[in-house]
Amino acid sequence: MNSSELMKTVKSRKSVRTYDGNPLSADDRRKIEEYIKEIKNPFDIDVDFTLLDAKEHGLSSPVLKGETLYVAAKTDKVPYADVAFGYSFEKLVLYAWSLGIGTVWIGGTMKRETFQAALGLEEGKRMPCVSPLGYPAKHRSVKEVAMRTGVGADSRKDAKNLFFDKTPDTPLVCDDKAVSDALEMVRWAPSAVNKQPWRVIADGNLFHFYEKQDKVYVNDSVGDLQKVDVGIALAHFVLGLESAGKEVETVIEDPSIKVNTDMFYIATVKIK
Ligand SMILES: Cc1cc2nc3c(=O)[nH]c(=O)nc-3n(C[C@H](O)[C@H](O)[C@H](O)COP(=O)(O)O)c2cc1C
Repeated sequence: MNSSELMKTVKSRKSVRTYDGNPLSADDRRKIEEYIKEIKNPFDIDVDFTLLDAKEHGLSSPVLKGETLYVAAKTDKVPYADVAFGYSFEKLVLYAWSLGIGTVWIGGTMKRETFQAALGLEEGKRMPCVSPLGYPAKHRSVKEVAMRTGVGADSRKDAKNLFFDKTPDTPLVCDDKAVSDALEMVRWAPSAVNKQPWRVIADGNLFHFYEKQDKVYVNDSVGDLQKVDVGIALAHFVLGLESAGKEVETVIEDPSIKVNTDMFYIATVKIK
């Protein structure tokens, strides 16, 4: 995808909670099956995807309607597993939407044990989230409309509150279109309860990503959902830059910038 196609995909993607009840076409299913075998993340942590038939495994979610298929994924319980999970799973979300296939990240509104059993989750592994895969229904359910209003799903924080220059108090002014487009893609990323916990402090060609924890969404079976969110944001940034022809590297090199105690360093994207 080139930069403008990716921007279109990122901006038009919305969580889909109401599906038309049809299974994926054989062609779409094959494309998804092929794609999930190839997905990589910069942390070299394996994110292992499985497609699960909803009926066969008795899978459902109280917020969904008309879904027939889910995708679930697992990682080892290792440092950075949640960030890697967010990164890899979001690549699938964007790819699916480029084919017209709807998804919604589900980390809370499901019977976790049923999904974990269907996935055959082993000791030492974690399944932070799942998603349905299917075609959007013509109209959203009443519940879905209410949920979207509840979390302000159609809006995002302003760039000046998310992206900074050298210190966490100076809003970033960016004159490189590839970078400002990639940051706009970060802004429109999905996040748990639409909290958008990513913050970026730029320093020349370095972009340091932080998690701003405003409420702790952490437990052993889910991991840290806001770290998953930052992984999603990193994927949008890196894919955005790469789609504009930039060569980038993602590293873990904490620059030790003085930040508030609710901000945690995650990773740095270097533009080469
Ligand atoms: C890590 C993560 C977990 C989420 N968990 C749920 C969930 O359990 N149930 C749900 O209905 N939506 C869930 N969402 C979807 C968000 O509510 C949604 O992405 C956000 O409100 C923005 O809306 P949009 O995706 O339509 O842009 C989750 C999103 C993320 C990224």
